[in-house]
Amino acid sequence: MKSPIPDYLNAALEKVRPNEDGQPAQYIKTLANADTSKLAVALVMVDGNVYSAGDDQVEFSIQSISKAFVYAIAIEDAGLEHVLEKIGVEPSGDAFNKLSLHKGNNRPMNPMINAGAIAAHSLVVHPNATAEERTDRILKTMSRLAGRQLHVDEEVYEAELEDADRNMGIGYMLKAAGIISCRPAEVVKGYIRQCSINVNVRDLAVMAATLCNAGVNPVTGETIMPADSVRQVLSVMTTCGMYDAAGQWVSRVGIPAKSGVAGGVIGALPGQVGIAAFSPKLNERGNSVRAVALFEQMSRDMGFHMM
Ligand code: DON
Repeated sequence: MKSPIPDYLNAALEKVRPNEDGQPAQYIKTLANADTSKLAVALVMVDGNVYSAGDDQVEFSIQSISKAFVYAIAIEDAGLEHVLEKIGVEPSGDAFNKLSLHKGNNRPMNPMINAGAIAAHSLVVHPNATAEERTDRILKTMSRLAGRQLHVDEEVYEAELEDADRNMGIGYMLKAAGIISCRPAEVVKGYIRQCSINVNVRDLAVMAATLCNAGVNPVTGETIMPADSVRQVLSVMTTCGMYDAAGQWVSRVGIPAKSGVAGGVIGALPGQVGIAAFSPKLNERGNSVRAVALFEQMSRDMGFHMM
C-alpha cells in the first residue's frame, strides 16, 4: 500500500510556504544571501524508512545543530562525569552567543550555547589532541550519523572565521576560567569548522533518528554512539535546544530539538521518528520561522508531543 506520508509532507510545506516572516542570519554574507524560497522537510522512522518533501537535496551549513552531536562525542571521549564538571545542563535564558557561565564554578550553563559548545569541542578525542584530530573525529562521526560522507563548506568556514571575534573572546575567557586546557584559537577554529559542515534535511533527519534509536543509525544499521550519551543529549536538547524559546517549543511541539542559524531544525521523538526541516528565514530568537511552523503543525497532526 502506498504510504500517505509523502502527500502529507507536501501539503504541510504548502501550508507554511506563504509565511514570509523573519530574515536569514545577517552576520555573514553567505547566510545573508541564502535563497529564502527554499523549504524542505524529512522524516526518518526508527525502522529505517525515509520520507522527504520540498528542497530535500539543498545543502546548508549545520551550524548549532552540530552542538548536540559534538556533546555526545565529548561524553563518549571524556566520560559524562568529566563533561559535567566542565559544562552545565541548565537553560541560560540568554542568547546563544552570550558567555553565560555559572557563578562559582565558571562552567558554561549548557552545551547548546556557544560557550558550552566550544568547551565540548575541546573535550573531543582527549585534551592534548591536535586540532586536526578533533575535527577529523567530528567530521567522521557526523558522516556516520548521516550515513554518507559530509564535507565542510569552506566558504562558510572562511566567512565565519573572519567574523569570529566574539567566539574567540569566549574561547579565551574559557581558558582563563580553567574550563578548556588547549589553545583557545585552535578550539574556536575547530568549533567553527564543525558548524560549517554541509547537510541536507535527509541527512539531518537520519542523524536525529539515530538519537531516537539509542545511537544506532536506523538506515545503515551501524552503532554510532552509546545509548547513555544519547539519553544525555536528548535531555539537554529538551531543556536548552531551542534557546530561550525552549519553554514555548516544549509546550507546543513537545519533543527534544535543536536549531541552527542557517535555518535547519531537528527534532527527535525517542523510539519513533527523527525529523528535520529547513528554511533560511529566522525569527528573533534565531530559529527558522517556517521550520518552527512545520514542527508545530506536524506535532498537532501526527501526535508527536511526548505528553
Ligand atoms: O557560533 C556561531 O555564531 C555560529 N557559527 C553558530 C550559531 C548557531 O547556529 C546558533 N543557532 N541558532
